[in-house]
Parts: sequence; C-alpha cells; structure tokens
Amino acid sequence: MGRKKIFITRKINSIALELLKKYYDVILNNKTDSPSKNVMIKKVKNVYGILCTLSEKIDSDIMDAAGSNLKVISTLSTGYDHIDICEATKRGIYVTTTGNILSEATADLTFGLLLALSRKIVQGHLYIIDGKWKKGWTPNLFLGNNIHGSTLGILGLGNIGTAVAKRANGFNMNIMYNNRHQLSKSIENKLNVTFVTFDQLLENSDFLSIHTSFNNDNFHLIDSRELKKMKKTSFLINTSRGNIINESSLIKAIKNKWIAGAGLDVFEKEPLPIQNELLKLKNVILLPHLGSATVQTRYRMSEVAAINLHNILSKKKPLFLVNKALVQNLS
Ligand code: DGY
Repeated sequence: MGRKKIFITRKINSIALELLKKYYDVILNNKTDSPSKNVMIKKVKNVYGILCTLSEKIDSDIMDAAGSNLKVISTLSTGYDHIDICEATKRGIYVTTTGNILSEATADLTFGLLLALSRKIVQGHLYIIDGKWKKGWTPNLFLGNNIHGSTLGILGLGNIGTAVAKRANGFNMNIMYNNRHQLSKSIENKLNVTFVTFDQLLENSDFLSIHTSFNNDNFHLIDSRELKKMKKTSFLINTSRGNIINESSLIKAIKNKWIAGAGLDVFEKEPLPIQNELLKLKNVILLPHLGSATVQTRYRMSEVAAINLHNILSKKKPLFLVNKALVQNLS
C-alpha cells in the first residue's frame, strides 16, 4: 500500500509541511487564498486527513467527497465554527485545533485595540500623516480617557479572556466578567476578577471585550438591546468571531452615540466588504483578523496542526481534540 494521501488547503509554514511530507503523500493547494468548494471537493478524494484553516467550510459535502478514508480534520485555528462537528463525530472523524496556542498573542492585540481606542492613537497618527498638526502641543488635542481605574468587562473568561485579565491587572483596571459558569473563588481571587450577570457586564463596562467562542447559541448575542444597555462612553472590542455581534445594530449604535466606539478584528463577513458602513465611521478601529498574527504564534500553530494530524493517523492522542467522544480509540 502506498503512502496515505492528505490535503492541505493553503500554504503553511515549511517546517510543518516538511514534517507532513515525511509521512504522507501531500496534496497542497500552494496558494495563500482558500480553495473554492468545487476545488476542495476534487482534491479531497480518498484523503485520510485534511489540514484546513478557518476560512474553509468543512461540511458533509466535503466529508462525502473525501470518502470513508477520512479520519482527521486538523484546523490551523483555535475556533472550529467552520467545521460541522456533529457530522464529523457521527462519521468517526477526529477534529483537532490549535487550542490555547494563540491566547497570549490575541490578548496582546485586544489590549492594542483597547489602548488605541481610549487614547486615540490611530486618529493622532492620521492627523500627522494628513499634515494637520500645525500648532505643537495643544491643551485639548485628542483627549482620551484613563485606562487605569476604568472597568473592563470580559465576556467569556477562557484562555484568551484570562490572558486579557492578567494584562488588565497590570494596567490597574477593575475587571468584571461573565461566563457560562462562574469560576472558583480561588481563580477569581488570583485574577482579581468579579463575576457579574450579562446585563451588569453591559451596564458597567468602560471597555467590553468579547472572548467567548462562537456557537449556535451566541449568534448576534450583542444586538440593539445589549448596545443600548452599554454606557454611552464605552467601547466594544471583538477579537473572537464577527457573528457574535449584529454588525448593522453596532453601526446604528455608533452613529446614534449609544456607545463611544468599537475595535474590531473580526467581522460577519471576511474580508470586510469595502462598501460596509463600518468603514465610514470615525470611532472604530478595524483590523483584518490579526489576533494570532505573530511570527512565533503562527509558526507554532502550523506545527501543532501538523502534529495533531500525524498523531491521529498514528492512532495517538492529538494535542487539542474537539470531539472528545472519540478519544477512547487513541493511545
Ligand atoms: C483562530 O485561530 O480561531 C483565530 O481566530 C485566528 O487565528
């Protein structure tokens, strides 16, 4: 029997690629862009493993096209909302992720957005670039708000939320959180965080930062009702998934000054269409999904994705498994 075939949907770093090439017959879509669904359907025929990214939807059509050899879908991401987990589990296909590898990098970027929003860093930069800085130091130029002493609301205190809380302590912020489950008192004390209800979080945060993973239950969790409850001076930050916020309601909220602004790294539709109203608003900072985008983090993520795939095909436990119901067949 020849080597097992695997499909990699996009260019990944060469170390991960070399690792996989040692063991498998690699079909690589050697492009920076995602393949279309039709291309994927052709390429996955008879593969044992798919290494994908969050931009490719892996549904029952793709699993059908791969056929019964398919044992593992390893995503080069921590989010897995682009994969039909129920369908994969039903078929005995393992789904693996990059787990907590990106938490620190994403928390750093979240803080970057928080600092940039409250201290008008982007506006200040553009002011100089646009040749508008004519008078030297000016008493009331671009006055922002203190970060120290302000309240950070964290929605979802998992790995990334925790990394954000640690940074917020260094900035002397008051930290509140809301989660599906309240954490133990000892963790709360260690992180210096207070559990509040969802509505209390909305009403009291100066910065509300979203770190819950996206699932069927939190589609448009932040909508007009929620935005109206927030402080008029508050900022909303999202480095999780775009679909958690109803973007049209957010646009309305910023235009009508229900909140002061937003820092967004993720959107309902990516790439963000150029005609999207968000591009016309002054009080927003928009980034092209850069949460995990550091050399070190992306390198480690692709290495982990390669190891996960190889472990499953060697019947070993991967580093991060989503459908844990299947774990008993691994050593
Ligand atoms: C993820 O991995 O889920 C991030 O959104 C992108 O790196």
